[in-house]
Amino acid sequence: TALHEFLHGLPKCEHHLHVEGSLSPALLFQLAKTNKITLPVSGDSSFASISSLQARYERFTSLDDFLHYYYIGMSVLLTAGDFESLAYEYFSHAHRDGVHHAEIFFDPQAHTSRGIAYTTVVAGLSAAQRRAEADFGLTSKLILCFLRHLPASEANTTYAEASRLGHFSDGTVAGIGLDSSEVDFPPELFTEVYTSAKDAGIRRTAHAGEEGDTSYIEKALDICNVERIDHGIRMVEDETLLKRVAKNKMLVTVCPLSNVQLKCVTTVAELPIRRFLDEGIRFSINSDDPAYFGGYILDNYCAVQESFELSVAEWKYIAAGAIEGSWCDQARKETLL
Ligand code: ADE
Ligand code: ZN
Repeated sequence: TALHEFLHGLPKCEHHLHVEGSLSPALLFQLAKTNKITLPVSGDSSFASISSLQARYERFTSLDDFLHYYYIGMSVLLTAGDFESLAYEYFSHAHRDGVHHAEIFFDPQAHTSRGIAYTTVVAGLSAAQRRAEADFGLTSKLILCFLRHLPASEANTTYAEASRLGHFSDGTVAGIGLDSSEVDFPPELFTEVYTSAKDAGIRRTAHAGEEGDTSYIEKALDICNVERIDHGIRMVEDETLLKRVAKNKMLVTVCPLSNVQLKCVTTVAELPIRRFLDEGIRFSINSDDPAYFGGYILDNYCAVQESFELSVAEWKYIAAGAIEGSWCDQARKETLL
């Protein structure tokens, strides 16, 4: 359709993409074979084949049900070359979907806990970033996420390592984020690391209000001083909070297909897209973990269009907000507009 062409051509920025969540079942099985990783088959036949795994991905019941597969999947990533292949595959797909700038999450603790060095992960991702910029003109940034189901002391250790290597000051890593199981792991557990980052002038975001209630969003803002909110869909449950986010022009990174797949909502139509537009909330539309949720960024744009029938002007507002809310410099923003 004409609008599909328009959405494809619209210059897009992606801000909510877990690079480990772009591990396709095909690459997962290929790396398992090369790296001689035995996937857990006993008790769960999902790992028997690509198609049985894909079928399981269509039946997630919650965030934690998905995360179980997400952490097993990434166990096949061992070398810098594996991380480079992973990220380059994502950038290639993003480029085909019309993404010009991407700010991608990675989960160092999910790798260091398996004995993979932080430097190995970052070397591979950085190499893919350079290739994507050279090959596609696609610019990107890395956002280092802490796993909230692990003790805050381990987040502090990870932060210290990246800091010691100069990764925050030299631009290798653009900012910090917070992900994994949300409920029972509120943002305020990570006050120390967020305060250090703020004092050092490092950008900050956090997943909040995906499964967790509005208190998670409030604490992320009040205590962790985040500049952006990942998911945040439950903020519509609190009028004051909604107005506050709109007034401060904070970027909310919405992931429609993810929210449906993880049963945060039953349909895309249930998402507060219309409400966000009416309130003047700045938001972007993103894929979260595209290899697991059945769609990349363009599929998410199209799903929103099917449910909300937005106008060209509304899409231009969304695209402009996504550029404004990006963490690239002003000169790059101007080329994106
Ligand atoms: N890790 C990968 N995807 C995630 C999500 N949607 N929420 C929390 N943690 C995640
Ligand atoms: Zn996410």
